Amino acid sequence: MTPNATHHENVLVLGGTGKTGRRVAAGLRARGRHVRIGSRAGEPPFLWEDRATWPKALDGATAAYIAYSPDLAAPEGADDVGAFAALAVELGVRRLVLLSGRGEAGALRGEQAVRDSGADWTIVRASWFAQNFSEDYLLGPVLAGEIALPAGDVGEPFVDAGDIADVAVAAFTEDGHVGRLYEVTGPRLLTFGEAVAEIGRAAGRDIRYTYLPVDQYGAALAADGVPEEVVGLLTALFAEVLDGRNAHLSDGVHQALGRGPRDFSAYARATAAAGIWTP
Ligand SMILES: NC(=O)c1ccc[n+]([C@@H]2O[C@H](COP(=O)([O-])OP(=O)(O)OC[C@H]3O[C@@H](n4cnc5c(N)ncnc54)[C@H](OP(=O)(O)O)[C@@H]3O)[C@@H](O)[C@H]2O)c1
Repeated sequence: MTPNATHHENVLVLGGTGKTGRRVAAGLRARGRHVRIGSRAGEPPFLWEDRATWPKALDGATAAYIAYSPDLAAPEGADDVGAFAALAVELGVRRLVLLSGRGEAGALRGEQAVRDSGADWTIVRASWFAQNFSEDYLLGPVLAGEIALPAGDVGEPFVDAGDIADVAVAAFTEDGHVGRLYEVTGPRLLTFGEAVAEIGRAAGRDIRYTYLPVDQYGAALAADGVPEEVVGLLTALFAEVLDGRNAHLSDGVHQALGRGPRDFSAYARATAAAGIWTP
């Protein structure tokens, strides 16, 4: 029998202030679910690196959205997520929705840990988020007018964080999503150069994309004061997943929601109209 999704009322949203988590939290609240934000700024605070903070954050929760930070593919990612999922189940959580990444070995290990937890799980395995250009580390370069990355001519099907959140909210609030893995992408492959050109057109600005070899990219990040472990993660990510393995579309948004994903141009137009790319 399909578990009744309406029973899962108290949702702990990890990464609940981030690109997907805050949208998941808003969507769940709009559907009358009780939401607790799990992050360093949450009340009580939740820190991945301090397991003593986990039980309080889980107190009373019946479901949890897991967006790992900094990246599920980080060396400790799968271990942390597995330990969290096991504790959650022990403390009475039945429903877990995991945000995962596409094409990374570490992300696959994290997915397996959630499958093994004994909870009713759903996995949302996502391509690169469009919102990296407006809510994360690529916003500064867009505002500066130049994005230099170790991404060549490979196509990436950028997905909108709003679509990821819609899939997660559906998983928590509708029947039929338990035991499903949704690989979610946008509807179109774009190179990073093409994505930057769309942003420039939408923002009415001249924004350049430059290819940078991965070692030079790492050196530039370090020179900007980016912490060593983040430099390591970002360079490994660019080196690992932009080799063509992800240059194809997947229909997870349609499978989960019965509608197509939002196109990058719609994201670019809306973000430009909101003034986010106006220096
Ligand atoms: N970005 C992408 O393109 C992409 C693509 C596919 C998959 N993913 C996956 O998405 C997940 C989330 O990444 P994201 O880039 O989207 O980040 P994000 O969710 O936008 O931001 C990080 C979130 O985690 C919280 N956080 C940061 N450090 C924390 C810590 N030490 N302990 C607890 N919470 C912490 C932050 O809130 P506080 O600052 O309040 O702690 C924030 O809510 C990753 O596992 C990644 O693998 C990302």
